[in-house]
Amino acid sequence: MPFSQPVRIAPSLLAADFARLGEEVKDVVAGGADWIHFDVMDNHYVPNLTMGPMVCAALRPHTNAPIDVHLMVEPVDAIIPQFAKAGANIITFHPEASRHPDRTLSLIRDHGCKAGLVFNPATSLDWMDYVMDKLDIILLMSVNPGFGGQSFIPGTLPKLRQARRKIDAWIQAGGQPIAIEVDGGINVNNIAEVRAAGADTFVAGSAIFSKPDYKTVIDSLRSEIVRGESISV
Ligand code: DX5
Ligand code: ZN
Repeated sequence: MPFSQPVRIAPSLLAADFARLGEEVKDVVAGGADWIHFDVMDNHYVPNLTMGPMVCAALRPHTNAPIDVHLMVEPVDAIIPQFAKAGANIITFHPEASRHPDRTLSLIRDHGCKAGLVFNPATSLDWMDYVMDKLDIILLMSVNPGFGGQSFIPGTLPKLRQARRKIDAWIQAGGQPIAIEVDGGINVNNIAEVRAAGADTFVAGSAIFSKPDYKTVIDSLRSEIVRGESISV
């Protein structure tokens, strides 16, 4: 059941101009972005420090696009109500950073947000097996988390195909849809393959914000996604 999910491009603000974040959000949405990917790093779970709920709340009035909060923090739970209040729409977290991932997923949904797990390159997809009913999305990291501008790790492609198979089987058995997002090193040269392997939601930071015209690069990403649908894997 490949390619039945809506395609989304989610520019990562990590590569935006932090001194002009409101304008950057407006410009990238005007250029065709579907979601805004919001990377939260705590200098504990990952060796870098970015933005918290106050910045999310400050950006909320600047766009109607869903804000996709990627939590790279440990512990996880205390920050979830704060992000929900700040206007987050989707919240994902790394399961090994939570003592009780099942509880954390429920907490996110209880606060009115879509919930998901994030898998590092070396994290097994087994973490999803007993919480399938609580997932709206999974996020596969195609770099190690902590920094933008890294190179795509090719081992993500077989892992993506494996995730696609698990989710297709789940949906065929009557389960709810679960989006598959990929994050790290995505650009116009590899996004077709990533699509072919089964992703529907694509995070791109440096590939978009390093270019002067966001619409041109987002259009190219989208046409490569369409091309990826005809590649046989
Ligand atoms: C890395 C972040 C990514 C990153 C992607 O820890 O989760 O979202 O910003 O940036 P690029 O597309 O530059 O790899
Ligand atoms: Zn991210």
